[in-house]
Amino acid sequence: MVNWKEIDQNVREWIKEAGNRIRETFASTVHISTKSNRNDLVTNVDRETEQFFAERIRKYYPDHKILGEEGFGDQIDSVDGVVWVIDPIDGTMNFIHQKRNFMISIGIYYNGEGYLGYIYDVVHKELYFAEKGHGAYLNDQKLLPLEETVLQDAVIGLNPTWVVENKKIDHNLLIPIVKEARGLRTYGCAALEMVYVACGWLDAYITTRLSPWDFAGGKVIVEEVGGKVTTLSGKPLSILENSSVFASKPGLHKQILETYLKDYKD
Ligand code: IPD
Ligand code: CA
Ligand code: CA
Repeated sequence: MVNWKEIDQNVREWIKEAGNRIRETFASTVHISTKSNRNDLVTNVDRETEQFFAERIRKYYPDHKILGEEGFGDQIDSVDGVVWVIDPIDGTMNFIHQKRNFMISIGIYYNGEGYLGYIYDVVHKELYFAEKGHGAYLNDQKLLPLEETVLQDAVIGLNPTWVVENKKIDHNLLIPIVKEARGLRTYGCAALEMVYVACGWLDAYITTRLSPWDFAGGKVIVEEVGGKVTTLSGKPLSILENSSVFASKPGLHKQILETYLKDYKD
């Protein structure tokens, strides 16, 4: 039997401790390096934060698995059992350039299904949290079920990269969405954009390629307020795969899929 209550208490404690450590680094020099290209950034703080979580999880839950962006977790080829999906800093570019608009993101999955989701805004000390079947919260405030809207009244989270020529998607596909929406916003942090959907501050978030650690925590939170989280062709997401991600209020999700994304192929 998985003791979800105890796990929840531990994560809350650990996430706050990790947040304190990250805030303390604002006073010192952060070491920045690049990964796949010059805009794919990582710092010692990303690595140290993931290591911090991995050490604690291994000590308290040696039979759980860890899927982490910076490589301190396990090689995962099955969703069986409890899997912690961790992005120690989502929005590293924001962390480096702005020292805000970045999050710690943790999704805890059991046999492939999201049970607990945590997204911690380190700078504002705000914890977005959901437990499957028990609601979603921003700190102590329960989030309300999402209300319906249509694209013409919607503010959409979408990076302008995807409406100019790019290597991941036919940019023409998303142009009609940009033209029809009331407004567009880009925050550079998938976890932030997903919890903004959960809070109703964005009506939808559309992106062409994320890794499981980018969406695992946010998916639990968005779904708990009645939102939909799928690929851009409406397929379910898996923590074993990178994919496009479309998180949205339910009716708007249907409207966009049927009217604007019917030709999109994952
Ligand atoms: C990135 C952010 C960004 C998204 C990228 C992610 P990172 O995560 O979530 O908003 O567009 O695809 O890789 O690298 O800052 O953890
Ligand atoms: Ca990320
Ligand atoms: Ca990251």
